[in-house]
Amino acid sequence: MSRIVYVNGDYVPEAEAKVSVFDRGFLMADAVYEVTSVLDGRLIDFEGHAARLARSLAELDMTNPLSHQELLEAHRALVRKNCVTEGMVYLQVTRGNPGDRDFLFPDPGTCRPTVVMFTQSKPGLADNPAARTGWRVITLPDLRWARRDIKTVQLLYPSMGKMAAKRAGADDAWMVQDGLVTEGTSNNAYIVKGRTIVTRDLSHDILHGITRAAVLRFAREAQYEVEERPFTVDEAQAADEAFVTSASTFVMPVVEIDGVRLADGRPGPVARRLREIYIEESRRSAI
Ligand code: PDD
Repeated sequence: MSRIVYVNGDYVPEAEAKVSVFDRGFLMADAVYEVTSVLDGRLIDFEGHAARLARSLAELDMTNPLSHQELLEAHRALVRKNCVTEGMVYLQVTRGNPGDRDFLFPDPGTCRPTVVMFTQSKPGLADNPAARTGWRVITLPDLRWARRDIKTVQLLYPSMGKMAAKRAGADDAWMVQDGLVTEGTSNNAYIVKGRTIVTRDLSHDILHGITRAAVLRFAREAQYEVEERPFTVDEAQAADEAFVTSASTFVMPVVEIDGVRLADGRPGPVARRLREIYIEESRRSAI
């Protein structure tokens, strides 16, 4: 079935959804994005994604083209028009099409941002079989730019990381800077020792995950200790458990790091419990 896609206020069949070759998103990766998951046809953590979008745009001096209400209505309309029960809504805002290639930012008074949104239907997102066996990850140097807190579409290095993981027979890669894990290629990284959950503290080094914020809140409510600090690959390999979080994986257990199995090599109880809580609470608060 052909999807209905949102382009600058219009809902069009995907074959008719077009953006200029001069768009700065295409030429310069001058664009930010958000991925919001959908369960039971409703949006998960929409408020968090809307707030992070506004922050990413502000950090890049881009105007926010949609009001909060317009953004919500467009998300809901796309979910409805495409009959998505489980899946994602992808949103991208670029600095627009100035009509030519130029490094300098165009005048925002004459060059309007481009807004594109589409859905991805993923039946089985919540009941993901991978969560029952867990992911194996490799590690790679973190060669991304230094403002990873801004959710830009500069995803070449994360794509290369996922390809390297695939070639190594693994599921994903964790990136390492100065001997310390930053995050996964498209997720935040955690380790568990006893009842203590460790994840890197928020800074320009990592994306401030919306799922991360929710999972840490649920973890504290469930009486787990949370330490927000960096950790080494050695510490991770000696941990009882590990996991990652993102809008597309929720809480995904990690069972192996660079070929070293964690504990018995199966998803641990803390990751499994947090996944359950996250999905249950997200369904409850979805809009
Ligand atoms: N990725 N870190 C990075 C580098 C990410 O790309 C993502 C999300 C996260 C987790 O953020 P959140 O919990 O807000 O999804 C952390 C999305 C899902 C993607 O690129 O598809």
